[in-house]
Amino acid sequence: MCGIIGISSNKSVSANIVNSLKKLEYRGYDSVGLATLSDGVINEVKSEGRVNSLEQNFDIKNLKGNIGIGHVRWATHGVPNSINAHPHSSHNVSVVHNGIIENSTILKKFLINKGHNFKSQTDTEVIVHLITENLKTLELEEAITKTLKQLHGSFALGIVFKDIPDLIVGARRGSPLAVGYGPNENYLGSDSYALKAMTNKITYLDEGEFCLVKKDQVLFFNEEGKKINKKILELSSNEANYDKGDFKHFMAKEIEEQPTTIKTCIKEYVDSLNKDINILNFPWKINEIKSITLIGCGTAYHSCLLAKYWFEELTTLDVTIDIASEFRYRKNRFKKDALYIFVSQSGETADTYAALDLCNKNKMKTCSIVNVIESSIARDSNFVLPIHCGPEIGVASTKAFLGQILVLYILILKLSSLRNEIDIKLYHKKLKDLISLPSLVEKTLPHDNDIQAISPTFNEAKGSMFLGRGFSYPIALEGALKLKELSYVHAEGYPAGEMKHGPLALIEEGMPVVVLAPRDDYYKKTISNMQEVIARGAKVLLITNKSKDEVVSENIWETIEVENTNNDLLPFLLTIPLQKLAYYSALKKGYDIDKPRNLAKSVTVE
Ligand code: G6P
Repeated sequence: MCGIIGISSNKSVSANIVNSLKKLEYRGYDSVGLATLSDGVINEVKSEGRVNSLEQNFDIKNLKGNIGIGHVRWATHGVPNSINAHPHSSHNVSVVHNGIIENSTILKKFLINKGHNFKSQTDTEVIVHLITENLKTLELEEAITKTLKQLHGSFALGIVFKDIPDLIVGARRGSPLAVGYGPNENYLGSDSYALKAMTNKITYLDEGEFCLVKKDQVLFFNEEGKKINKKILELSSNEANYDKGDFKHFMAKEIEEQPTTIKTCIKEYVDSLNKDINILNFPWKINEIKSITLIGCGTAYHSCLLAKYWFEELTTLDVTIDIASEFRYRKNRFKKDALYIFVSQSGETADTYAALDLCNKNKMKTCSIVNVIESSIARDSNFVLPIHCGPEIGVASTKAFLGQILVLYILILKLSSLRNEIDIKLYHKKLKDLISLPSLVEKTLPHDNDIQAISPTFNEAKGSMFLGRGFSYPIALEGALKLKELSYVHAEGYPAGEMKHGPLALIEEGMPVVVLAPRDDYYKKTISNMQEVIARGAKVLLITNKSKDEVVSENIWETIEVENTNNDLLPFLLTIPLQKLAYYSALKKGYDIDKPRNLAKSVTVE
């Protein structure tokens, strides 16, 4: 959470800082600020709200300075207001921070005793005063090294100094940070996305490292303050993808581009000529893997949950799934013959990264399924499977979810084939069906009118339920998550068979209930559960797949039919109307669809 930018240049930097902050807004958008340095003065401007409120409140273009730092915030310590917004400054140091300082209370006491005055409620302000304090007796590099050692918790930092006119210090522990290289200027940024408009030459800081960024030179140091050399990576840049095009929102665009993104991904992995899956350079022998643990957060966790059903259907491997924030603190029994798979769109989620780090420290086999291939999770995994869906900007994940489940399905099919657990003819048939998936997704997209008409019922109700069994259960969870993220109405995903064990008590006259009942092995059972909620007054939106057989049930409120395909692939299609339901419900309410309240796209704090 929170986004950082820093620019050291031979020309004014404020306009470029603001442009980069707009790109970083997906990381946090409750307050914003920047500081430039000119003629030995730190010029600090901060605002509650979004970057455009900063532009409205201040004459940013005329803010002088060839060096500066900026920040978009997702509040952890202290309410989101202009005082708690970053940068935070002392008389000689200004800091932007992404992360949490866990020992800030102790450090604050220590610094107050030394005579420092605090203005905000943030943990970040202790960093500012600690550096100021250490600079009283130490040279810059020693002062930074000492300060970083005194801080507990996680951070990515950008720091400028009143008395050093051309320098930004960057530091990383637990939160991502990259350095970018441009003509007569260099940059610091939370991710390459913020820097790509200015450069595609990037160096990522690793754990514990810090750097000194000047307009014509960048130096790197390890946590002991020893100078180190680091590689410069050249990233491919495709700015066009970041545009909303004709769409009102990134989310709408990202939903509609799913046929293309999954087609691209299938092309990367499926060799249609040889009827096989290419997973190249897989680093382990197949008999070295006896069990699988899948780990993720939010939508990525739902992908893991769905993968468990496919694993059990197509292999005899033992499969465990876990929420990263739970996994990282449990007494895990690490198993040498287990493969740990981390699913993350951003590849930066703090809990997922910590779970990966734990597995790496225990010398486990680690594989990640990510969208951002330059991310920390990708870089620190033994093996990476990218989902190839292009940048996802809407905070509520859509095309990345489809990308994650697609790569998981491809991996599972491949493992099943390598383990001789699937008949070759069936394997080929499933690959053939998979190749036709993009066109089925395309045909499932145009349900807009029906869904627009249905959506007010979900907004007006006290709450809603999303029910499914088997493969449809994770999709029900994902559908409910999408609706609550975007429309701020209570929605609960439940296994349809569990309703009678409690949640049925919630059903009352007119309550909207989404029932996912494709014609798979669970169909009849789910239809029975649907009748139980209809009998208690629920307004049921049934989502099923096309079939010549009519659904035998009375009093269904609305039905949406997705295309038909083999049972494994139905979850892809069932997801589409649920994404649209969440989108149109939020649209009706006039909410900020791409940046829902209280959330952020990349959650880099615990
Ligand atoms: C945040 C996002 C979710 C996402 C989750 C995990 O909560 O708002 O959309 O599913 O983080 O993110 P990751 O990048 O690890 O997939």
